Amino acid sequence: MITNADPIITRRIAFEDSYTIERYLATGGYEGLRRALTMTPEAVAEEVNKASLLGRGGAGFPAGRKWSMLRQAPTSYLVVNGDESEPATFKDHLLIERDPHQIIEGSLITAYAIGASQIFIFCRGEFALGLERLQAACNEAYAYGAIGKNIFGAGFSIDLVIHPGAGAYICGEETALLESLEGKRGFPRIKPPFFPAVNGLYGQPTVVNNIETMSNIPWIILNGGDAFAALGTGASTGTRLFALSGRVKRPGWYELEMSKTTFRDLIFDPSLGGGIIDDGTIKAFIPGGVSAPWFGPDQLDLGLDQEAVGKAGSMLGSGSVVVMDDTTCVVRAAWRITRFFHRESCGQCTPCREGGTWLEQIMRRIEEGGGRESDLDLLMDVCDNIAPGVSWPPQQTTICVLGPSIPSSIASAIRMFRDEFLAHIEAGCCPMGGAR
Ligand SMILES: Cc1cc2nc3c(=O)[nH]c(=O)nc-3n(C[C@H](O)[C@H](O)[C@H](O)COP(=O)(O)O)c2cc1C
Ligand code: SF4
Repeated sequence: MITNADPIITRRIAFEDSYTIERYLATGGYEGLRRALTMTPEAVAEEVNKASLLGRGGAGFPAGRKWSMLRQAPTSYLVVNGDESEPATFKDHLLIERDPHQIIEGSLITAYAIGASQIFIFCRGEFALGLERLQAACNEAYAYGAIGKNIFGAGFSIDLVIHPGAGAYICGEETALLESLEGKRGFPRIKPPFFPAVNGLYGQPTVVNNIETMSNIPWIILNGGDAFAALGTGASTGTRLFALSGRVKRPGWYELEMSKTTFRDLIFDPSLGGGIIDDGTIKAFIPGGVSAPWFGPDQLDLGLDQEAVGKAGSMLGSGSVVVMDDTTCVVRAAWRITRFFHRESCGQCTPCREGGTWLEQIMRRIEEGGGRESDLDLLMDVCDNIAPGVSWPPQQTTICVLGPSIPSSIASAIRMFRDEFLAHIEAGCCPMGGAR
């Protein structure tokens, strides 16, 4: 069902000048911050708790609960994660380019609620236009008095720094991001002891939240946590921004009410994905970014709901939905995803570094026609070494979850389309010509 819920975070983007402070102020901008500063920090945090806002960066941890876990200390930080480097994930990109003030306002409200001493927004370096607009918005917000000393005369002061990333996917993992912010190589830290809420940036307690998570905060403060929680069902409240790509007629961004809208709606409704290109047949789809296990057409009627997707064996993850049809070579698709993870492994953990390399090589061999039937068991065995049991959620033998993400696409492809692997091996080439 497609509901008529108004958009929350994309309501401004239709304006040509949506990224300017003039448009922001003309459309209610910084009113949420003004309201928050009349409340106690605890009351602000309570609204976000009531909203049941789940983090939009991948793991879906409730934002209010994360804030409550921050160790109290004289210095603490808010770090906003705008690294967004996973293939097919492109929703934060939109928010950064088209509504940077909304991110800044959400970050300021959050910093006030948690008592942070400074805010950093870490933005993917390749987002040249996004970085330019984010920095311009930051300068405008300083000039307007929304950032800096004694904000709006309310006695709250804070600085905000925009920090460009240097082009590594692993820097989206929160502890690698903190290393990178500190000027070091982006190596994930071991948790424990490096849980950011306790021991984060420069060893101080730190909250790391995603760009989309922050973008929801001004609306929640202006409209109340209950109004947000009234959208969606269960724990999956509010709306979510989905990045739809692959073999659909209308790829793009869609902000939809959680839970009530289904994958079938998203992919097939004429006002959304519009169905499969050339009216082909859907073969499989990835429900939440390329780290996630795949679903077949039998899961199309699942709601866009974190819990339901989790129970069905995958995740809503980064909000990116990739559609494959009968012209897609699943071996090639899984190989390309594996190739990405293999290249982006930071190399600290043997299962991820070596396992990812082996998986990529075996997948390439099969796709290019040199595969053996025993390769299928070999692939699953290597997957099992990286993520024992090859189940969902994955078991972890590594420092971060990039490693256990690698088996998702291979295991899905083998389990769902074993015949296609065998056809490659028997034909000694890709029977589909290695097309997509
Ligand atoms: C390999 C890897 C890459 C990640 N990339 C991103 C990213 O680009 N953006 C993001 O917000 N979270 C990313 N995450 C998740 C972050 O570690 C973290 O959970 C998130 O920023 C927390 O924000 P949230 O609670 O608001 O979702 C990544 C995690 C892993 C393991
Ligand atoms: S799992 Fe991979 S990316 Fe993560 S720390 Fe280990 S080697 Fe690095």
